[in-house]
Amino acid sequence: IFRNLKLAPADPILSQTISFNNDPKPLNYKINLGVGAYRDDNGNSYILNSVKKAEELIRNDSNLNNHEYLPILGTNNYIELVQNFLFKDEYSNKLLNENRILTGQSLSGTGSLRLISELLKISNNVNKIVIPNPSWSNHKSIFIKSGIEKIDNYRYYNFKTQRLDLVGMLEDLNSLNPGDGVLLHVCCHNPTGVDPNNEEWDKILEIIERKQLIPIFDMAYQGFDKNLNDDLYIIERTCELIFKNNKIKNMILCQSFAKTLGLYGERIGSFSIITSNKEEKEILESQIKVIIRSMYSSPPCQGSKIVEMVLSNPELYNEWELEVGIMRDRLKEMRMLLFNELKRLNCHGPGVNGPTGWEHLIEQNGMFCFTGILPDQVAALEKDSSIYMTSNGRISIAGINSGNVGRLSRAIAGVFSV
Ligand code: LMR
Repeated sequence: IFRNLKLAPADPILSQTISFNNDPKPLNYKINLGVGAYRDDNGNSYILNSVKKAEELIRNDSNLNNHEYLPILGTNNYIELVQNFLFKDEYSNKLLNENRILTGQSLSGTGSLRLISELLKISNNVNKIVIPNPSWSNHKSIFIKSGIEKIDNYRYYNFKTQRLDLVGMLEDLNSLNPGDGVLLHVCCHNPTGVDPNNEEWDKILEIIERKQLIPIFDMAYQGFDKNLNDDLYIIERTCELIFKNNKIKNMILCQSFAKTLGLYGERIGSFSIITSNKEEKEILESQIKVIIRSMYSSPPCQGSKIVEMVLSNPELYNEWELEVGIMRDRLKEMRMLLFNELKRLNCHGPGVNGPTGWEHLIEQNGMFCFTGILPDQVAALEKDSSIYMTSNGRISIAGINSGNVGRLSRAIAGVFSV
């Protein structure tokens, strides 16, 4: 019965980890800059202290130390804590108090986007969803797999200047029709690391409101640009406009704790939908429950217990905030280290924003650098130096450390000198 199926292409990001693991070179020689997972300066995965403490508290609490089923949308406690964490400013809080925000636990960012996509599909009212060019490679597949047929790109990254193509972006958003969905990365855009500043967000939002588009926010890197609160700027501004003007009818937020709490494999996050009123919220809640029940029944419980513990315990929360700061600072430091090494080696990069051609490395935000290294150079780095990155030249900064940055820089300089 499967004879019509052909071999599907490997995932462009996750397949890098397989290639890295299969490479027989010693672990301390190979460099994995593929998947976006935080590593410490020794290249080890990082279990946050706040998470370790939360796990300990869960183990010692007889009410929590079990593997029982969770409700379809997660526990009320999880929902409430996550809502208070995400919607704490004046206007989002007002929407919350009007009972207009539907939130549920999701299988991290991907699971959240998929649920939303299924809901948009059955609503039968969304003609088109636009995503930035470029975007995370999974975005398009998620929407297409739910049966949303029209996925277009809007201009986002200027490949010549390595900066935001704001003019192109505004033009493209302006050409959309009311009800079209716009996927936006809240901060630390994946794969480019290029984000609008607050003034630019305001211009984007003005069009979203005027054209009555549906903003669909993907937030996987909250705290990796400024901090956990300030990175919420565009969410809070959108809530403010919704509350004051009521022209944007719905807003969607797909959020993940994978990176910020280092809970990658726990698949833990949330979806939130700002609805027009309480009645709409009830309808959407009932529909999304049916979607979840038939897809995976109910969400896993370990990650949500950790999140609940960290969000509800002020001591753990403060420690978590500090730890997010540690990760953020190390990423910034590694960008600078790579930049300085490439500069020292007199390796001229592909950029145009300064004398070294690598200035974009230190201008971008978050976990990823969009280096401008070309696919054949990426292939050469992999083959000759066991350095792994995605073929579009995106590197996960977290894979860089003080021990490997020298060899990495020399290898990059090598492929730029031929
Ligand atoms: C990435 O872009 O590397 C991460 O978001 C992991 C993933 O699932 O692709």
